[in-house]
Amino acid sequence: MELTGKVAVVTGSGRGLGLAYATELARRGAAVVVNDVDAEVAQSAVESITAAGGSAVAEVVPVGSSEAAQALVDRAVSEFGRLDVLVNNAGILRDTTLWKMTDEQFDAVITTHLRGTFTCTRAAAIKLREQGEGGRIICIGSPTGQVGNFGQTNYAAAKAGIVGMVRTWAMELARAQITVNAVVPVAATAMTETVPFLEPYVTALKNGDPLPAYARQQLGFGSAEDVAGLIAFLASDEAAGITGQAIGIGGDRLALWTHPVETVVEFADGTGWSAEAIADVWPGTFEASKQTVGQQFEPES
Ligand SMILES: NC(=O)c1ccc[n+]([C@@H]2O[C@H](COP(=O)([O-])OP(=O)(O)OC[C@H]3O[C@@H](n4cnc5c(N)ncnc54)[C@H](O)[C@@H]3O)[C@@H](O)[C@H]2O)c1
Repeated sequence: MELTGKVAVVTGSGRGLGLAYATELARRGAAVVVNDVDAEVAQSAVESITAAGGSAVAEVVPVGSSEAAQALVDRAVSEFGRLDVLVNNAGILRDTTLWKMTDEQFDAVITTHLRGTFTCTRAAAIKLREQGEGGRIICIGSPTGQVGNFGQTNYAAAKAGIVGMVRTWAMELARAQITVNAVVPVAATAMTETVPFLEPYVTALKNGDPLPAYARQQLGFGSAEDVAGLIAFLASDEAAGITGQAIGIGGDRLALWTHPVETVVEFADGTGWSAEAIADVWPGTFEASKQTVGQQFEPES
């Protein structure tokens, strides 16, 4: 799947998943603007991509503000003449329970993930619409945004919000043939290193040991490189008809997430629903269909 001639911006691509995305897009021929807040890792990403024969430059700027977003689009145009693909990947964690979370922790995560995805996509959409040749916006969600996770108020809000924006942008940008999708990844990176239930698998990967099928399939856990193929596919011409989707990937697992749908509907008789009427109907009609929260895994057999 060739990406030659295409120009991509990948935010937060100095390390982790973003580095795997930038490397894979470049390997398939795209010219890449690598971005990170950390100048050192951004520069070494550029060096490894160019050493392998790819084209890349580094734009070191903290994603979040409109100015940073514009700098990334402008850099793609000034270096490579155009823009085709934006991958909104930059992210941070500030985990703690609700009652301990500070305003600063909430705002930092919302600024990088949610505001950063908004500002970068807006700047990219303006450029892509002006070019008039379509384009690809790939945003990064998380299982936490889909189902919630203990200790991640800020991150859940940002990631659920990103998928909400993706659905809206898929509608708004359809006419310009710009597809907008969310990728919901899981992979071994600095971000997942401290997640307790992943610890044995992170250690195995560090030791160069193969992961058990349970980790790669049921948990959908593997390396950052395991996720990169989906980014290349969505960036390619083959994925022109795919938009507004949330696609999960990790290890050997590839999955399409549903969007929220009403699962049980009951109608009142023209009088609306009083509290008493709801209490009457709840046990028989709704109780059995209550939704779970948090990720649900099949136990290891
Ligand atoms: N690793 C996983 O399993 C997993 C799961 C779900 C979602 N994600 C998402 O994938 C993305 C990448 O995560 P990762 O695991 O590779 O994390 P990581 O911490 O390994 O890498 C994130 C990179 O983003 C950079 N960064 C942070 N803030 C930035 C900013 N404001 N502007 C530019 N760069 C910035 C960091 O310096 C770092 O290099 C994030 O959006 C994360 O939420 C990861």
